[in-house]
Amino acid sequence: MLLNFKSLLELRYLGLCTHLAISRYASKGGGKIDQEVLKQLEEGYKKLTESNSKSLLKKHLTKEIFEKLKTQTTPSFNSTLMHCISSGLCNHDSGMGVYAPDPEAYKVFADLFDPLIEDYHKCFKKTDKQPATKFGKGKDFENLDPDGNFIVSTRVRCGRAVKGFPFNPCLTEQDYGELESKICGAVMTLSGEYKGKYMPLTGMDKCVQEQLIADHFLFKEGDRFLAAAGASRYWPTGRGIFLNDTKNFLVWCNEEDHIRIISMEKGGDLGKVYDRMVGGVEALGKQLEFNRDERLGFLTFCPTNLGTSIRASVHIRLPSLMCQPEEMKKLAEKYRLQIRGTSGEHSEAKDGVHDISNQRRMGLTEYEIIKEMHDGIKGLIEAECKARNS
Ligand code: ARG
Repeated sequence: MLLNFKSLLELRYLGLCTHLAISRYASKGGGKIDQEVLKQLEEGYKKLTESNSKSLLKKHLTKEIFEKLKTQTTPSFNSTLMHCISSGLCNHDSGMGVYAPDPEAYKVFADLFDPLIEDYHKCFKKTDKQPATKFGKGKDFENLDPDGNFIVSTRVRCGRAVKGFPFNPCLTEQDYGELESKICGAVMTLSGEYKGKYMPLTGMDKCVQEQLIADHFLFKEGDRFLAAAGASRYWPTGRGIFLNDTKNFLVWCNEEDHIRIISMEKGGDLGKVYDRMVGGVEALGKQLEFNRDERLGFLTFCPTNLGTSIRASVHIRLPSLMCQPEEMKKLAEKYRLQIRGTSGEHSEAKDGVHDISNQRRMGLTEYEIIKEMHDGIKGLIEAECKARNS
């Protein structure tokens, strides 16, 4: 659904977000908030508080914090609280419900972001600092499933923002073009196993696009959480995907983040997949300047991805464990893993295949994040074997 809408206003007309005039949520210049925006914020907030939303936005946006932040704006882009929370106000089924419209928003709206970050990333307090980048070596991680009994495929990705640009809701059409040419220029310098081609979404053949999505290479279109956050403007301008010749290394351009760097292959060789991603990030880091914050680590549009921005996942079959959902939930919590459906977030599991990944991305080094996921998946496989034999 929801393809190619040009503005948030269209979204409103589609009736998905009738209570918010979010197309007008940009504040006027000079750091003053538009009265209409303020009214929409008040209404949206009231609806959220009266709803049974389980989002972290609802949990942490107290009346006191709301009152304090509702008239604030960021210095460089005049982003408002509405920019930060429109997705959660439109989508009460959000897990988080919050995005940062520009890097400064993490500071200006810290009273909201900090508790959310602490909650999602399990104990990253506002006095904590993301440790320096340390990738380490993938060889330390053994193949999680050498006999191929459980794991269908393994994927590791990270996100990067290009310094000097805000995030989606504040990007102009021209920014999208500029970002795309920078990113495209950088990926085209990649050589060896990384050599490949860049395919812009604009003008992409529909069959090619559908196949890329079916193969889990390309992002889907029409994510209502992103759309309501103002992240789908000018779609498909500036969006695209780079794929290496072997089809195990990818770079997404201007989807949720400016850049997503992805390594994936069949089977459970996490170390190999991780090393390939690290090699790609390091090569691209020589071409582009990434935006990294002293305290928060790599800056991303969604606070769930801050810090290392790494999400390491497997598509895995655990049929016996899946019959015990309570036990499964307990184990996921114990190992700090997140369980998603086969086609990623907000999707269903097909043929018993689940997408399981590290939940937190902050407060640990890259190496430690991978280790946490590795040990967790190992633990789940052991539990599956036990469940089968009991
Ligand atoms: N905003 C969505 C929610 O709150 C997604 C959050 C995390 N996922 C992401 N792709 N950033 O449920």
